[in-house]
Amino acid sequence: MGIKQSLKQSVQRSATLWAGYQFIKAQVNRVRTTAYYLYDARRCWRHMIWRPTERARWALSSEMLFQYHKLEKGLVMPGKPRLFGTDPVRATMALVRRWEAAGYPTSDAIYRGACATVSCYRAGLIARGLHQESPAIHQVDQFLAERQQVLAADPMVTPVPLEAPTKPGAGPWEAFEALSVARRSVRDFAPTAVPKEWVERAVRIAALSPSACNRQPNKVILIEDRAEIDRALSFQNGNRGFGHKVPLLAVLVVDSTGYFDGSERNQTYVDGGLFAMSLMFALRALGLGSCSLNWCVTPATDRAFRKLGHVKDQETVMMMLAIGYPPEAVAVPLSPRRDMEDLMRWSKAKNA
Ligand SMILES: Cc1cc2nc3c(=O)[nH]c(=O)nc-3n(C[C@H](O)[C@H](O)[C@H](O)COP(=O)(O)O)c2cc1C
Repeated sequence: MGIKQSLKQSVQRSATLWAGYQFIKAQVNRVRTTAYYLYDARRCWRHMIWRPTERARWALSSEMLFQYHKLEKGLVMPGKPRLFGTDPVRATMALVRRWEAAGYPTSDAIYRGACATVSCYRAGLIARGLHQESPAIHQVDQFLAERQQVLAADPMVTPVPLEAPTKPGAGPWEAFEALSVARRSVRDFAPTAVPKEWVERAVRIAALSPSACNRQPNKVILIEDRAEIDRALSFQNGNRGFGHKVPLLAVLVVDSTGYFDGSERNQTYVDGGLFAMSLMFALRALGLGSCSLNWCVTPATDRAFRKLGHVKDQETVMMMLAIGYPPEAVAVPLSPRRDMEDLMRWSKAKNA
């Protein structure tokens, strides 16, 4: 037996010594946790800041997606048409130019998606009779005229109709494929109430998601009262234009007391994300629609939201989820996905 083990055994013989040992261990872990967060802060500082002069391919394509998604979203918003997207369309065009100037491939799906979305944005403004109001329309026209070839090569259209979640006579692969294609972020809802039993069925399925050591830290907090939904959504920045139509709002949280120390700090988001995905699939399989709503908030907003009383102190908010029936005919953004070579790589690292 090693010195460490025999020392531990003698300490275990005394309840007081053992309690003291556990106390000191917990404090050491707390200090160690600070180091983990400093490591995270360093990685964040190095890699998670977009610069106005950014030229790296991945960051550029991500920023393009970020900007033109605002245009895609605007094209599916319910309600009275109003001018939207002036800043994002300008930002998208500038990013496309930066992409071209850097010599990145114009066959890239995200780049082509950017050009196509600007074109669909223009068409959308015209269809709504808003193009003359747009201060960016001349820049848009010029941008599109310069990219006729890209646009003609492989026309991409946004928005597209929401697909049905099932395929008659489908095997497991086809069934899963149909469900995956039909699971889209829906930003318009019918006024029909969502049956409680169906939400419970979906949550039961989501509970089958894997979690680290099967600790199952997820909880779904459901808000159905209109005024409460509006109040909760007032703390969230991504529901403009459709938040008022959300019939049921879920707050997805993870109970942080289920984790032993800071080395598990990111596990909350892994477990929470896996659960959220299953929940969205389950809801869609039941014919419902959903839209994830980010919880990228300042500490002050997080604290203020907690004061509404929905979320306990130890619960970490993962995201919100808008849930409801999609209207009869509902459009969703095309939202092109990255090319295969960007999605995976077989590692050739020597030490792998
Ligand atoms: C964590 C997370 C947060 C999101 N937050 C928002 C949001 O605040 N508002 C919104 O309209 N969409 C939000 N989305 C939806 C994304 O925009 C959407 O998933 C993405 O554009 C792909 O489209 P799809 O879900 O239709 O396939 C979020 C998605 C995720 C996963």
